[in-house]
Amino acid sequence: MAFSLKKYNTFGLDAFARQFMEIESEDIFSELIGNEGYKQSRKFIIGGGSNVFFENGHFDGIILHPVMKGIEIIDTEDNDVIIRCAAGENWKDFVDMTVARGWYGLENLSDIPGNVGAAPVQNVGAYGIEAKDCISKVYAINIENGEKKCFKKPECEFGYRTSIFKNAAMQNLLIYSVEFILKKNSTLHLDYGNIRSYLSEKNILNPTISDVAQAVKDIRASKLPQVGIVGSAGSFFKNAVVPKAKYGQLKDEYPEMPGFEGENGYVKIPTGWLIEKAGLKGYRDGDAGVWSKQALILVNHGTATGTDIKRVMQKVISEVEDKFGIKIEPEVVIV
Ligand code: EPU
Repeated sequence: MAFSLKKYNTFGLDAFARQFMEIESEDIFSELIGNEGYKQSRKFIIGGGSNVFFENGHFDGIILHPVMKGIEIIDTEDNDVIIRCAAGENWKDFVDMTVARGWYGLENLSDIPGNVGAAPVQNVGAYGIEAKDCISKVYAINIENGEKKCFKKPECEFGYRTSIFKNAAMQNLLIYSVEFILKKNSTLHLDYGNIRSYLSEKNILNPTISDVAQAVKDIRASKLPQVGIVGSAGSFFKNAVVPKAKYGQLKDEYPEMPGFEGENGYVKIPTGWLIEKAGLKGYRDGDAGVWSKQALILVNHGTATGTDIKRVMQKVISEVEDKFGIKIEPEVVIV
């Protein structure tokens, strides 16, 4: 009997897997790796299912779903708070807990759906902060041979929406625990987007960590589809990164085009802007479409299938390429 993954992907796609296993502890692998059926099967790890797109209706293999729980405060000396959190903890709840304790670091990453174990994989980011800014260690187990390894931060090779755990060669690593370093005293990051204007509209002159977390929550709620109501996987595409010279040419043609200069002579252009200017914001093809309040997000309005979403994805990619000469790339993990 095939197992329905509908509840396990925030896109709400009706996909099936041959088998599904909740992983309550990494210790289970010492037994599993000796099992012939397990050894021969394809495997895929799914956390909160908030960044995955099942393009076909079926996964012929075993889905491993980490559900291990536990949050341990390892050390609170000086200004640092070192916390180890199990992969199956809910990210939002974890961030809310750190904000409630008054620890600096994760407040701009409030309300991101998904589980803690997934955060390092794509180095989740929002409002000027990335998970890597607070992660110190990642504990992973090889699901084929049961070997455990602790990856120190530099070994994680974090980048924009990527890490070593996203490499094809690393797909056999299951993250079971993540260590964070937060601060008892630090500064707040208010420079991204409309955080400052939100706070000043509310007359908040000396914002606290909770004020920033609330600002992020409200700004997100105004733009992003509500999980459980409208199916999506958050940003479907990555922001575009182009050489400075290419950005210069585009800017001559589209003077209002936003761009953020990064390292090595590259400029990041918001793909949401490109999609909007290509006339596709709010585009709909049956129940598949582009979100009307944030064009970077593809949505399932109800009964869209993976094939429907894929058709919209291809249309968006080709129309952006035709208009701007930029080939945008999916940010979601496509299975
Ligand atoms: N924009 C438009 N039209 C749109 C959407 C965006 O013109 O429909 C332009 C605007 O100029 C806006 C700029 O794009 O100022 C940036 O938009 P936004 O702040 O919404 O951020 P983003 O770059 O589109 C990224 C992340 C989001 C994260 C936000 C906020 C990626 C792939 N996405 O989106 O992350 O919440 O920044 O920090 O980098 C996710 O990864 O699932 C996700 C939601």
